[in-house]
Amino acid sequence: MANDPFGLNGRTAVITGAGGGLGRTHALLFAKHGANVVVNDLGGKFDGSGKGSEMADKVVAEIKAAGGKAVANYDSVSTEAGAAGIVKSAIDAFGRIDILVNNAGILRDKSFVNMTDADWDIVFAVHVKGTYYCTKAAWPLMREQKYGRVVITSSASGIYGNFGQTNYAAAKMGLIGLAQTLALEGEKYNIRVNTIAPVAASRMTESLMPPNILEKLQPECVSPLVVYLCSENIDVNGEVYEVGAGAVARLEWLRSKGLAMTPEQINVEAVAAAWKQINDMTDAKVLRSIGESTQATLAHCLG
Ligand SMILES: NC(=O)c1ccc[n+]([C@@H]2O[C@H](COP(=O)([O-])OP(=O)(O)OC[C@H]3O[C@@H](n4cnc5c(N)ncnc54)[C@H](O)[C@@H]3O)[C@@H](O)[C@H]2O)c1
Repeated sequence: MANDPFGLNGRTAVITGAGGGLGRTHALLFAKHGANVVVNDLGGKFDGSGKGSEMADKVVAEIKAAGGKAVANYDSVSTEAGAAGIVKSAIDAFGRIDILVNNAGILRDKSFVNMTDADWDIVFAVHVKGTYYCTKAAWPLMREQKYGRVVITSSASGIYGNFGQTNYAAAKMGLIGLAQTLALEGEKYNIRVNTIAPVAASRMTESLMPPNILEKLQPECVSPLVVYLCSENIDVNGEVYEVGAGAVARLEWLRSKGLAMTPEQINVEAVAAAWKQINDMTDAKVLRSIGESTQATLAHCLG
């Protein structure tokens, strides 16, 4: 799209895990808006086993057939060399990287009692290390050019917990901490880092939800938010959005008014006596930064 109103024309977007599911629809939409796209995908199964070039190639062919510009990359996000290769694909093909959508992911669901180190480690390797390595590879270039748009893919599973997903939930919540801190560090370089917690029908979720729900959850409904968060004039940084089935909403942290005691007053009995008040969310406040959090905790000591 020439003169894209969102400033995407001629920008280069790297989408990890773009050979299927959400990554594919993100890639197609970025290309439709005139961005050059690196379609990365390891091409394995949803549990992280196997690899292949077919998935990424197919999406590149789709983009090209629609008149867009794209190249394929088959590296794994979960190694430093793989992430360097992904960013190199962008530089080699298009000369720069403006946008990074960390989307690649796998599942190894098991109840905690059956969780193995291997299931834990591979989920962390793809989601946490993968996002870390890819962002680390792109970051110096984005800082240097004073422009970068990064989207990180979290999950409601991390935010709220989900039975059988201790590994995945911990990894996805860890990504929110990574994103919030990157948002602060990238601010003065015009790098914006925002997080999505999507819900969509994909091979990852096809066995987890009933067909009548899955049909409402087209991955195409998630991609418009992702593309908008990567637009030139995006006015948010360090935010978290839930998105799916056409619904888009921002999440916040709430802190109850609670009760502030002096060091002399606080003991187990006092906590027990104040329990109702501590848990009462009636006058809860949104906290926007670590400074606000510390201030809220110390307010009664500072007079
Ligand atoms: N679908 C949902 O409802 C949902 C909900 C919450 C979060 N998510 C997250 O959204 C993202 C996309 O998931 P999806 O539902 O489209 O699933 P998906 O399995 O269709 O897509 C994930 C893609 O990542 C690729 N991939 C896996 N490991 C990789 C690696 N090491 N390097 C490069 N590519 C790799 C896979 O080949 C696959 O194409 C994931 O991060 C997932 O955790 C999805």
